[in-house]
Amino acid sequence: MHRLIFRFPKMDEQPTPTIIVVLGPPGAGKGTQSSMLADILRVPHISIGALLRSYTRDDSKVGLHLRGMMALGQLVPDTLVLEALATRISEPDCARGLILDGFPRTLRQAELLEQGLLKSPIDANTLRSDLVAIHLRVQKSTIVGRLSGRRICSRCSATYHLETQPPRVSGECDFDGSALTVREDDRKATVLKRLQLYEHETAPILSHYAEKASLLEFDGEQPKENIAQELVMAIQGMLRISITGAKNVQSTLEDNL
Ligand code: AP5
Repeated sequence: MHRLIFRFPKMDEQPTPTIIVVLGPPGAGKGTQSSMLADILRVPHISIGALLRSYTRDDSKVGLHLRGMMALGQLVPDTLVLEALATRISEPDCARGLILDGFPRTLRQAELLEQGLLKSPIDANTLRSDLVAIHLRVQKSTIVGRLSGRRICSRCSATYHLETQPPRVSGECDFDGSALTVREDDRKATVLKRLQLYEHETAPILSHYAEKASLLEFDGEQPKENIAQELVMAIQGMLRISITGAKNVQSTLEDNL
């Protein structure tokens, strides 16, 4: 069996953090792949959707407003998104690099990212070596099936699927035993709205990154461990990362089965 050892360059080899941006329509598998990649690369997985959902748990005015917008599948205003993101990425674990799942979602957000959203500003001239955008391609029919079967843990947000990734005990999270719930925005009518918004606002980002030669495309219809394997090899090729010294990809994939 093919085995691959992966590591990011040392800080002195690459002073600016490496950002991996994961793009794709709702249900493409962004969260699933980001979580597996984070484990393999040992950098944090930052899901903007999960960050924002954590703010909806309190009954403050902002929390209630956010909950309403997200339940309808609308984009949250940039001010709130940027504040949540800036707070998270200023934490020390992001110094070496991070995986951004759900940001950018508009061309404006892509520009903000390039203009130095991180503490250590990204030099637009060296964008290719610092930012890798990953696009997971999936068909609409796949999306609807994936989101109607998705369940998430009410406590830790771990993701399941009733058919392709069921929990060990029905209705309970494998990690903490908490109840699994349906995301409010996974109702079919809302999913279709989110898809329209993706086509209109987010899909144009793909050509933006393609022009900068920072875009890697993947067939998101494959089994998740095949996609992860392809992702790791492609990222390694793009960033010219050496293959010694860190976590074993195959064992991580096996952990996730
Ligand atoms: P967010 O939570 O980011 O939602 P999303 O982008 O619509 O993506 P999803 O989480 O629905 O899907 P995913 O691609 O991560 O798929 P997953 O891996 O879970 O954002 C939610 C909301 O927050 C937005 O609508 C907006 O309101 C707001 N927001 C977020 N970012 C924002 C921003 N930048 N600006 C403004 N507002 C923002 O997989 C789905 C299911 O499929 C799972 O059940 C999984 O088990 C299964 N699955 C995954 N991969 C496979 C596979 N290969 N084969 C079979 N099944 C699979």
